Amino acid sequence: MIWIYRNTPRGFEDLSSAEMKAAGLTQVSNRYFFGDSFDLQTSAYPQFLAREVSRGSSAEEAMRNFKEDIPSPYRMEKVGKKGRCGSLTYAMLAEKILGGVIRASDPKSVIIVFTPDDKTWIAGFVAEEKKTALNKLRTITERTCVSLSAQAALALVNIAPDEPIIDPCCGTGMIPLAAMLLGKKTYASDNNYKMLGMSRKNRDILNLNLEFMYKDAFEPWIENCCLVCDLPADRGWDTRTEDLSLKIFSSWIPHIKSFCIIAPTQILKKLPNSIEVTQTVEFTANRTIILGKTIK
Ligand SMILES: C[S@@+](CC[C@H](N)C(=O)[O-])C[C@H]1O[C@@H](n2cnc3c(N)ncnc32)[C@H](O)[C@@H]1O
Repeated sequence: MIWIYRNTPRGFEDLSSAEMKAAGLTQVSNRYFFGDSFDLQTSAYPQFLAREVSRGSSAEEAMRNFKEDIPSPYRMEKVGKKGRCGSLTYAMLAEKILGGVIRASDPKSVIIVFTPDDKTWIAGFVAEEKKTALNKLRTITERTCVSLSAQAALALVNIAPDEPIIDPCCGTGMIPLAAMLLGKKTYASDNNYKMLGMSRKNRDILNLNLEFMYKDAFEPWIENCCLVCDLPADRGWDTRTEDLSLKIFSSWIPHIKSFCIIAPTQILKKLPNSIEVTQTVEFTANRTIILGKTIK
């Protein structure tokens, strides 16, 4: 069994949980999820992964039950209130129970002990991945105050129903670039030259091969894709905030097969009946992520 410990999602708890569930994991507590397998490389919110080897009703029992050979030297860690850290207490206990050579720096393996539910204690091997899609996406430099975070963009693509992916309001390109890093067929456009300049610069930083087109989102230009889009909302004080996003979404409905959009929550009451909503996920700033498919 694989255990996943997620980062503090800071307001993105629902999106983070939705991403983990879409990957086939089960949530046990705020931080912990488990499943049969998991790809750390492509996901947005996990901090680390541990392959369970043993369990018990205390940390000591979990370590006594640890029956696998441990590549030595190894490091002992625990997950405490402040997160993951090395543990001298566990290291001394491990040396007594499991033998081998304990070393904090440059170990061959890392054993972690934690309790996901404050009842059961788990001991297992930690697996980490540095060259993740998230770390790559974080290297981009062009951002605006409405750019999605790298984590949110990646999670959005991970929960999207299918591909190819089209983002006709791509801004700085976070969604299409996340999709490209995940190996999905992707299309992107915007009607603002400044945004297009920024998205192209971000693309070049990531060394990806994607055309960012100048197009008006009110004129759909490709068929049979999954619309994955952080729709623009009209933020004027004297206008109704839902109109612009609903109008752009409505113009795409006849041309797409599915969608995963970020839109003002109010539009949920006004959605046309030519679509089937399969999931909604609360997002920031009174917005909701709406997933579903079109009814042909
Ligand atoms: C909320 S921002 C998208 C932010 C983007 N997801 C990012 O991470 O940078 C909305 C984008 O929609 C674009 N936009 C607004 N009206 C548009 C239209 N009619 N056609 C195409 N793009 C439009 C804006 O230029 C802006 O880049």
